[in-house]
Amino acid sequence: MKKRIGILTSGGDCPGLNAAIRGVARAAYEMFDAEIIGIHDGYRGLIEGDYSEMSRSQFSGILTLGGTILGTSRTPFRNMRKIESDNVDKVAAMKKTYRNLKLDCLVTLGGNGTHKTANLLSEEGLNIIGLPKTIDNDLYGTDFTFGFHTANDIATGVIDRIHTTAASHGRCMVIEIMGNKAGWLTLYSGVAGGADVILIPEIPYTIDKVAEVVKRRAESNKGFTIIAVAEGAMDREEAKMKKKEREAKRAAEHFSSSAYVAKQLQELVGVEARSVVPGHIQRGGTPSAYDRVLSTEFGVHAAELIRDDVYGVTVALKGNSITHNALKDIAGVAKPVPPDDQMVATARNIGISFGD
Ligand code: F6P
Repeated sequence: MKKRIGILTSGGDCPGLNAAIRGVARAAYEMFDAEIIGIHDGYRGLIEGDYSEMSRSQFSGILTLGGTILGTSRTPFRNMRKIESDNVDKVAAMKKTYRNLKLDCLVTLGGNGTHKTANLLSEEGLNIIGLPKTIDNDLYGTDFTFGFHTANDIATGVIDRIHTTAASHGRCMVIEIMGNKAGWLTLYSGVAGGADVILIPEIPYTIDKVAEVVKRRAESNKGFTIIAVAEGAMDREEAKMKKKEREAKRAAEHFSSSAYVAKQLQELVGVEARSVVPGHIQRGGTPSAYDRVLSTEFGVHAAELIRDDVYGVTVALKGNSITHNALKDIAGVAKPVPPDDQMVATARNIGISFGD
């Protein structure tokens, strides 16, 4: 029997989206009679009925391509049930597009926000399968999301390059790593890049502790310090504040976590400190071999679920197995770094400071 599959990518992009789309499509074409409809720019396309019928050839040559051939957008979950100035009932509009297209299911590739809306649509009776993507790796229920390893390689490459210039100048270099509210990317790239200090949101720091490390290294024959700081990192005082209060303080005092740390260290220790913000470079370009494999495995598992009519789930990696979780169990559940995570212990045991 023919199956009509809608696919969309939503939220911030990451390397591996096209590899996952290709995995779904190729496996579906192999396993059953499939028609694939690409929804443009995430949920925006579903709301506005912006899509295209895809041909088999469109899934060829995209394994190594960064970004997403379908386009993406941020359509916040908190607004999904709100009728805004355009007077559009977004949930009704999405259901209408799904029905008009006579879809048998919709595959949604995204992170936390995407999964919340995917769960909403599932509760509204649509057949949904999620695929977990994000460089932040903060999606509950999966050991890793695709995109994370590539971003980790890129962030590690940045730290490597900063190392040589830090050593030449005897400077303190503060590198700001993406990850939203989670410290996974900073933790992993900090360990891989040999950072001296790793600052993550889950372990609020004290600047004096960080200053001790910088001072010690400045006085040693090393002379330089590498600090990997998560964009969402906060000191102990900031950690006590409400989000809005913290944001107001930051807007008034400093623009980014790295600039804040660098400025304070310069004042406290008297070292030359610089902040480096690689930003969206961490999300760009071709996926790593690991992410190509993971995305393909995730995509193929989604096609298997479609073949077996299993919906209301999202694909996951647990240990070495590709499996799936019920959307209702994972939607809206964050996955911060547990302060006693094994990788945190590993870092501590080789002398990396978390500033706590
Ligand atoms: O979720 C991925 C991510 O890159 C985060 O690490 C970062 O906080 C955010 O997206 C940046 O969002 P935008 O692309 O909208 O600037």
